[in-house]
Amino acid sequence: MPATDSSLKTSVGTLSLNNPFLLSSGPTTASGRQIRHAFRLGWAGAVTKTIVPDTMGIDDVSPRFAAWKGQDAGLLGFENIELLSKQKLSYWAGEIAAIKKEYPDRVLIASIMASPDPTEWQNLATAVQNAGADAVELNVSCPHGMPEQGIGAALGQHAGLVRELTHAVRGVVGIPLIVKLTPNVTDIVPVARAAVDGGADILSAINTIQCLMGIDLNTLEPLPSVAGCSTYGGYSGPAVKPIGLRMISEIARELSVPLMGIGGVSRWQDAAEYIAVGASAVQVCTEVMWSGAGIIRDMTRGLSGYLAEKHFADVGALRGHALPGIGTHAALSRTDVSLAIIDFPERCISCGRCVTACRDGGYDAVSLEEQHVVIDKNRCNGCGLCSLLCPEGVIVMQARVHGQGK
Ligand SMILES: Cc1cc2nc3c(=O)[nH]c(=O)nc-3n(C[C@H](O)[C@H](O)[C@H](O)COP(=O)(O)O)c2cc1C
Repeated sequence: MPATDSSLKTSVGTLSLNNPFLLSSGPTTASGRQIRHAFRLGWAGAVTKTIVPDTMGIDDVSPRFAAWKGQDAGLLGFENIELLSKQKLSYWAGEIAAIKKEYPDRVLIASIMASPDPTEWQNLATAVQNAGADAVELNVSCPHGMPEQGIGAALGQHAGLVRELTHAVRGVVGIPLIVKLTPNVTDIVPVARAAVDGGADILSAINTIQCLMGIDLNTLEPLPSVAGCSTYGGYSGPAVKPIGLRMISEIARELSVPLMGIGGVSRWQDAAEYIAVGASAVQVCTEVMWSGAGIIRDMTRGLSGYLAEKHFADVGALRGHALPGIGTHAALSRTDVSLAIIDFPERCISCGRCVTACRDGGYDAVSLEEQHVVIDKNRCNGCGLCSLLCPEGVIVMQARVHGQGK
C-alpha cells in the first residue's frame, strides 16, 4: 500500500477503519473463506451475508442473476433474486470469532434478519455480539422474497416498525448498531430518523432497488428466468449509484448520524463521491462479484492519490464537502448561465450527433459547416446536451459572463 495510506484511515461512529472500503453483505461475504481472502487483499471491513435463524429455511433458485451490459460487455446494472445466508448460526459464530482473532484490526459486521418477532432479532444480535462481531447490521431492506413474509423491505418501509425493531435490538446489544435502509420508499429520511430514534448508531444505504431486468424477446420469458418465470428482484451496480448518492446526501443533510454509502461503488471515484456527500465509508458488493476482491488495490491507491492531489489531509476532511452545493431547484442560479463552445475543433469527426440532438432535442443551435461544427450563440440555451453526447469531447460548457443569462 502507498506510504500516504494513513490518510485513508477513517472512523464510522466508534468503528475505526484502515480505509473506507468494506465488503457489503452478499455473495462475496457468504463464507469465512471469502472474508479472509478480502482482508488479506486489504479490505478494511466486511459485512457478513445476512444471517438468519436456523429455523428459517433458505432455498435459493437458479439462475438468480441478470445483467444489463454496455456495448463493450461492461456491467451497467445487475439484478439478483438471491435470498440470505444458507449457513447455520453456529457456523457464523465460529467464523466471526476465528476471523476476529486472525484479523483484529479489521471490522467485521454481522448482518441479521429474522421473522417480524423482535425476540428472534434479539437472539441473533446477542449471538453475534457474543461471538465477537464489531457491530450488527439490521437488514430491513431486502426487496425480494423476504417482503412476501412481511420482513426485509416490507419492514423497512415503515418508520414505526423500524423504530420498534431497532429499539428492541438496542436493548440487548452494546456493540454499534447499524440499520441498513431500503431505497424502495418515497422518502428515506423519515425511516432514517426512526432508526436513529430507535437507537441506531450508524445507518447504511442503500440496499437494492426493486426491478425487473428485462424480457427475453425470443421466449418472452421475464429475466432472470427460473423455468420460464421470474419475480421482481434487487437492482445494483453502476446504474444505482446516482440513487444511492441522492439518498445518502438526503440523510446527511437532515441528520447527524454516521453513514456508510452503498450502491454502485465500482471505482475509487465512486467512493470519493459518497464521502463528499456525507458518508464516512462505503460498502461494495456487485463490483467485487464482477471483478474480484483485488479491486481494493486500485480503490485505495486511487483514493489516497486523490486526497493528496486535492490537499485533503484525510477521508474525514473530504466528508460532506459537496453537501453545501446541494439544495432546492428554486435556489439554483438563473444568472450564471453556461454556453456550449467548441473547445477542441481539431478533434471533431463531423459525426453530426450534436447537430441532430440539438435539432430534435434542443434549440437548433448547432450545425455543420464545411465539416466543422458551429454553434449559434444566440440560439444556444445552455442545456448541455451536445457536450454530453459528443464522442470526442469537442464541445464543452463554459460559463457566460456573470449576469448575462437569458
Ligand atoms: C447477489 C446479491 C446478494 C445480496 N445479498 C444481500 C444480503 O444477503 N444482505 C444484504 O443486506 N444485502 C444484500 N445485497 C445488497 C448489497 O449488500 C448492496 O446493498 C447492493 O447490492 C448495492 O450495492 P452494490 O451496487 O455495490 O452491489 C445483495 C446484493 C447482491 C447483488
